[in-house]
Amino acid sequence: MTRSSSFDPPERLLMGPGPSNVHPRVYAALSAPVVGHLDPVFLTVMEESKDLLRTAFQTRNELTIAISGTGSSGMEACFVNSLEPGDRALVCINGVFGMRMREVASRCGATVDVVEAEWGTAIPAEAVAEALSKADYKVVAIVHAETSTGVLQPLAEISRLVHDHGALFLVDTVTSLGGVDLDVDGLAIDLCYSGTQKCLGCPPGLSPVTFSPMAMERLAARKTPVQSWYLDISLIAQYWGESRVYHHTAPISMNYALREALLLVAEEGLEARWRRHRQNQEALIRGLQALGLSLVVDAAIRLPPLTTVRIPDNVDDAAVRQTLLQRFGIEIGGGLGAFKGKAWRIGLMGATSTERNVTTLLASLEVALRMQGYAGGGAVEAAISG
Ligand SMILES: Cc1ncc(COP(=O)(O)O)c(C=O)c1O
Repeated sequence: MTRSSSFDPPERLLMGPGPSNVHPRVYAALSAPVVGHLDPVFLTVMEESKDLLRTAFQTRNELTIAISGTGSSGMEACFVNSLEPGDRALVCINGVFGMRMREVASRCGATVDVVEAEWGTAIPAEAVAEALSKADYKVVAIVHAETSTGVLQPLAEISRLVHDHGALFLVDTVTSLGGVDLDVDGLAIDLCYSGTQKCLGCPPGLSPVTFSPMAMERLAARKTPVQSWYLDISLIAQYWGESRVYHHTAPISMNYALREALLLVAEEGLEARWRRHRQNQEALIRGLQALGLSLVVDAAIRLPPLTTVRIPDNVDDAAVRQTLLQRFGIEIGGGLGAFKGKAWRIGLMGATSTERNVTTLLASLEVALRMQGYAGGGAVEAAISG
């Protein structure tokens, strides 16, 4: 096999379920010189990141850090630290990531019960209340932003039920942090994890997490050691805390990138950022509807950073996505699980969420659909008419 000496990946417009496009300032941060992981300069980066993460998560939780690993490492960290063999957990499932949470929770040795809702709908609080009335749970887990369906889960009522029950409230915010209102303290979320590659506009590689004082208390009262040494939060906390005890070699460059991305979030302001995500989704939807396409999720629970749209009959899913990628350099996502072959997932996350990207996609999609014999037009005009 011959290898070229230069590597020159194409610049794609990343409008799928993630990763999203990386902001130029984040790329610049990635190329800064690597220092030691206990260097005072790096320790400052960690301190600043903790503060910036607290702002983004809207929390005062002391334990607010970035786990070295992708979003799934944050998911594992939340479960392995909160569950011991024999504990009981309730997991809400209305898409792929709820299913994954069930798997992770059961691998902790917990007995896992589920509350299920149809894909593309939210988990009803009444269903959670009913499940909680039947057994004693240590942890209740739910996905805030289901990337497989485009549903934004309302959390306030469920949080109240979970706390009345005395359980810890565990929430996946991989596709909501930095893109929609996520009030960790206001919603009394105890264990929360996210990822860098969605609405924060970083490459994949770190998982921001935040644990409430109650979660930390329960962790301290465990009878058995956390089954994962690498993800044991009490060990990681010593590295991120004042004692700086070596635990693992932090991915220096990714932490530079995350700090820069979080600075961008703070400079833009949380509310302005949520508004930008919402308004660009509205423009996208006007364009999709002008093309005669229909949306999977009801307006009240639609997730601004990710829109699911039904693939019209007689249109070849893969061919349209191939045209977008190969001719126009645009990635959108295919359907997952129950939506495979039935829906496209269009991401407008972080730096990708701009009006220009919306109109570029709509113009390209219009052509790709026409190549499939699907007639429709006026998408760009509709998008910019709002
Ligand atoms: C809602 C949700 N949870 C968890 C994950 C897993 O994150 P990662 O792929 O970064 O490990 C993803 C990834 O897309 C996600 O969308």
